[in-house]
Amino acid sequence: MQKQVFVTRQLPGERIHELAQHCRMNVWMGPGPLPAATLRTELAGCQGLICLLSDRIDRALLDAAPGLEFVSSMSVGVDHIDVNALSERGIPVGNTPGVLVETTADTAFALLLAAARRIAEADRCVRNGDWTTANAWAPEFFTGKDVSGATLGIVGLGEIGQAVARRAAGFGMQVLAWNRAPRQLPGIEMVALEELLARSDFVSIHVALAAGTRNLLDAGKIALMKPGAVLVNTARGGIVDEQALAAALAGGRLSAAGIDVFEREPVPADNPLLHLPNVVVTPHIGSATTATRARMADMAAANAIAALQGQVMPCCVNPHVYG
Ligand code: DGY
Repeated sequence: MQKQVFVTRQLPGERIHELAQHCRMNVWMGPGPLPAATLRTELAGCQGLICLLSDRIDRALLDAAPGLEFVSSMSVGVDHIDVNALSERGIPVGNTPGVLVETTADTAFALLLAAARRIAEADRCVRNGDWTTANAWAPEFFTGKDVSGATLGIVGLGEIGQAVARRAAGFGMQVLAWNRAPRQLPGIEMVALEELLARSDFVSIHVALAAGTRNLLDAGKIALMKPGAVLVNTARGGIVDEQALAAALAGGRLSAAGIDVFEREPVPADNPLLHLPNVVVTPHIGSATTATRARMADMAAANAIAALQGQVMPCCVNPHVYG
């Protein structure tokens, strides 16, 4: 009898069709995202799950899915999954690293440029009819901050952080980085987090969200940032204290921010960052290109196929479950 696999959203890519040959596959067809209660019901009789970063996989859900044998997430981040709870049950968790590195670095750099040069604010000015004769080209009109030649501080020098550093080199930026594990790379000066914050004109976050990085940039750390600096976050909400960041931006201590990820997603309308003109916001689109999303889906399917065939997942965040 073939195993039963639940997929929480229709996925792009090719390998999902291949997966269907290895199992009985049930896909949530919507409308809209899968409600948590439906996931609980659907998973009850399943051996496998392919999920997204918007699906919460916690102990309560696992208790309701006693036959579960693997989880494959179409994401590199696994903060939506209680990996410890799955490891305790001997269940492997797959993710999709690598394939979204360049795309996410592009997004970080796009936000950095947009925040520095006030692109979203300028776009709103033109569309709203505020670019008038009385409010037109002038020496101080829409002046922003130079990116070329500035100092960039990269918080987390993993693959995405390194890809951002490569882009920064093209802009003649001086690159500082902080990483928990020591790392030496040409053209990048490794410094303590406090020094990075004090010296950087731009700070870009590239650590995963975990117990040790939650609130990493709290009010105290934000207060250490260089006056007039720009913060970019394409990693995860929860790493930066949003209230403290909003206060620093509203008070003029920081000049701008580019934020793709929020503590709560979709971001509630009363989040103070949404009400500041000097914040560029995007809805968690770091990896959102057609090609990258297809690669991520293919990788998630490949992890699931391996698990169904009794093999080690090609990308597994808790490989120790294989003993
Ligand atoms: C991930 O895969 O964790 C990313 O946040 C998706 O953009």
